[in-house]
Amino acid sequence: MKLVYEKSKSGRRASTLPQYGLPSVEAPEELRRAEPPRLPELAEPELVRHFTELSTRNFGVDTGFYPLGSCTMKHNPRVNERLAMLPGFKDLHPCQEEDGAQGALELMWRLQEILQEVSGLHACSLQPAAGSQGELTGLMLMRAYFADRGEGERRDTIITADTAHGTNPASVTMAGYKLAKVGTDGRGNLDLDDLRAKVDGRTAGLMLTNPSTLGLFDESISEVASIFHDAGSLLYYDGANLNAVCGISRPGDMGFDIVHINLHKTFSQPHGGGGPGGGPIVVRDRLEPFLPVPAVVRDGDRFRLDHDRPKSIGKVRGFTGPFGVFVRSYAYIRMYGPALREMSEVAVLNANYLLARLRDTYELPYDRLCMHEFVLSARKLKREHGVTALDVAKRLMDYGFHPPTIYFPLVVPEALMIEPTETEPKERLDAFADAMVAIAREAAENPELLGEAPVSQPVRRLDEVKAAKRAIVKYGFEEHPDLSGEVGEARQLEAQKGA
Ligand SMILES: Cc1ncc(COP(=O)(O)O)c(C=O)c1O
Repeated sequence: MKLVYEKSKSGRRASTLPQYGLPSVEAPEELRRAEPPRLPELAEPELVRHFTELSTRNFGVDTGFYPLGSCTMKHNPRVNERLAMLPGFKDLHPCQEEDGAQGALELMWRLQEILQEVSGLHACSLQPAAGSQGELTGLMLMRAYFADRGEGERRDTIITADTAHGTNPASVTMAGYKLAKVGTDGRGNLDLDDLRAKVDGRTAGLMLTNPSTLGLFDESISEVASIFHDAGSLLYYDGANLNAVCGISRPGDMGFDIVHINLHKTFSQPHGGGGPGGGPIVVRDRLEPFLPVPAVVRDGDRFRLDHDRPKSIGKVRGFTGPFGVFVRSYAYIRMYGPALREMSEVAVLNANYLLARLRDTYELPYDRLCMHEFVLSARKLKREHGVTALDVAKRLMDYGFHPPTIYFPLVVPEALMIEPTETEPKERLDAFADAMVAIAREAAENPELLGEAPVSQPVRRLDEVKAAKRAIVKYGFEEHPDLSGEVGEARQLEAQKGA
């Protein structure tokens, strides 16, 4: 397929109409660019065809099953989009005065209330734009809390699990804490002996996701919480896996003091490819004074932004956070209403159904019922046929499925981390399980094929390190002399016209 620049023909245009009723604004001479930008020039039909063709080469949750463990790629109901596009939401300016934004403020306040209820905690800030930013915000809250108590210097360490998502240690380091890792025991729980040996007066807190990235609920969570609270430390809940427990168990009841919620996972949001996301933070009452400003508060029937929080850590994002994400998540939650628990129950049921179908074909490192996801190992295929988790993942693309997360968590060799979510019907789950079983058979009969997979996709096996580290995201005019000449001529022409 040609690049859009390669299709460009000088002088071709797709038209846009000026906004009705708005005066046209002339940019002052000194602010105008000296040369027109080097943009591709195409008429509308070719432009539409270009992007439509591109979109057919992509894989998304709207085109197929996307069991990317820990990422919760569930269906995004279209009604959410319609609501987010209501003019009163979409066209609202972030600097609109409060009287003209009562509906938006009320929606944010109601979402905060729901997230507090779901978490079993007392106060919420919607500001962070992703789970990872929620983590950093939570650690900044811990810093502020301990500094306020005169323990800031002493408490310098955060403990994470060896199954933790990479953002956990990264956030700990960014927040200026030392990192200590605790191992996993034979049942997939935190190793309590290792934990007891590491928690002391220097420990600021724990950062943990429960269920863990193994898809297992920690059976000793109350004891874990006591160990930290007895040491005067705090517990941070990485809510990336909240889809497993909504309405069933609450992080606050487990003993956690700070929680982030990945709105874009648990409460649906078209994500992947970097956004948009939402990572609200919910805290126990003693941490409320430190939350970011402004806080969205209710005074009787009115809603307002409260900036008067002298102990606040300040702002972590522009204005009040990613508002469109709030509308979609609020709509998703309200569609379930009091039955929100069913969302998690079906997510757990779907995961256990798939696990039951696959456990005899792939190795199951921790033999327990799973929560909303599970981790298998392709270790046996590697040992017996030289076929790796990567080969299995790539071959799944030939069967029309997005690969699961692989090689994570690090404690499982040749890991395949599978999360079906609640929005998949049984037929899809069966088709996926059939494909996984067929691939295991191919591994024995034709391992070379798996080594070459995918064989039916527009792009074959990539050098992934090179693709990630040396991605070409800019058109190289200089490497395309013919085109640069053509675009150059057009630029001269435009310049002559005074554009
Ligand atoms: C367990 C876990 N923690 C934290 C994160 C970070 O969340 P975000 O991608 O929203 O920054 C993820 C993301 O996949 C995750 O799976």
